[in-house]
Amino acid sequence: MKILVTGGVGFIGSHTVVELFNAGFEPVIIDNLYNSSRDVLVGIKKITGQDFPFYEVDCNDISQVREIFEKEKFDGVIHFAAYKAVGESVDEPLKYYENNILSLLILLKVMKEFAVDKFVFSSSCTVYGQPDSIPVTELTPRQPATSPYGNTKAIAEDIIRDHVHAAPNLKAISLRYFNPIGAHETALIGELPNGVPSNLVPFITQTAAGLRKSLTVFGSDYDTPDGTCIRDFIHVVDLAKAHLKALILLQEQTTPNYYDVFNVGTGKGYTVLDLIKTFEEVNGVKLNYSIGPRREGDVEKIYAQSDKVNNVMKWTPEKTMSDALRDAWNWQKKLTNLQ
Ligand code: UD1
Repeated sequence: MKILVTGGVGFIGSHTVVELFNAGFEPVIIDNLYNSSRDVLVGIKKITGQDFPFYEVDCNDISQVREIFEKEKFDGVIHFAAYKAVGESVDEPLKYYENNILSLLILLKVMKEFAVDKFVFSSSCTVYGQPDSIPVTELTPRQPATSPYGNTKAIAEDIIRDHVHAAPNLKAISLRYFNPIGAHETALIGELPNGVPSNLVPFITQTAAGLRKSLTVFGSDYDTPDGTCIRDFIHVVDLAKAHLKALILLQEQTTPNYYDVFNVGTGKGYTVLDLIKTFEEVNGVKLNYSIGPRREGDVEKIYAQSDKVNNVMKWTPEKTMSDALRDAWNWQKKLTNLQ
């Protein structure tokens, strides 16, 4: 199966390209390199021994997207390409709506023109907001988004659902990711945030590497065992493999107008302090951190109920939080030439 991976040079996209190849799929990458680097392609090549077709193209450019579809004859699309900085989306909402929604519309339109019938979309647990009860199932009601970024995910899910309803030959799945962390175990690809990281694990690894002075833990007065927020941290390689399972499910699917959503998390919640302690233990490093005020917009606690993805897609995570934190640290050490 030839699969278009938009955003295939990004954090989750690059790991998915590797796993697609390992499982016998043929990935083709489109990425505008807005938030990623060409070096990632070198890492992918070192791991797989392959050069995959790569187009430095913006998914918002419909004529270039069309040309690629014409040339490549895809069997399916995995759509990662999107802006993802929660804070930036609050300051520049139009940038987020334009990029994240327009690219989706263009892809769905061009897929229809070329009769490409399998679509996997990167959604997020952000669509649940602060749920009334945890763990969240796919039936847990979505809450109003707390940021324009989060809203683009909710709107995108609705667009896909409505479009599939009107397009009997299209089959689609939205994967609601929990918190992806880690790196490839070879330390050849990993997370490469631009500037100061806003996510927890890259901030931790950069602090441990001496690039940042100290980590601030955002709030210790939440209603959780140690007062810090609870998240469901999932190894990026496990998350990547969920996309393969989604494609296989779509391939085998005979129901017309098939659209479904799946939580992709481990089903376990850990606090921010649990994660910090585990990072220190598995890597034998001491992290400089202090407790600060809450970050605006943070959800207190969320983790997945993952029965649906376990049973329907036959996907279960193979790696632990310790594995992810070890891999993330090995990747950071390689990036900063520490040994
Ligand atoms: C957010 C988004 C999620 C998105 C993800 C990736 C929301 C509600 N969540 O997840 O949809 O997919 O970013 O961009 O929009 N923390 C600290 N100190 C730090 C950084 C983080 O204590 O320096 C804490 C946060 O308060 C939070 C936890 O670590 O409790 C995880 O934060 P982060 O990695 O930013 O992810 P989320 O906010 O959960």
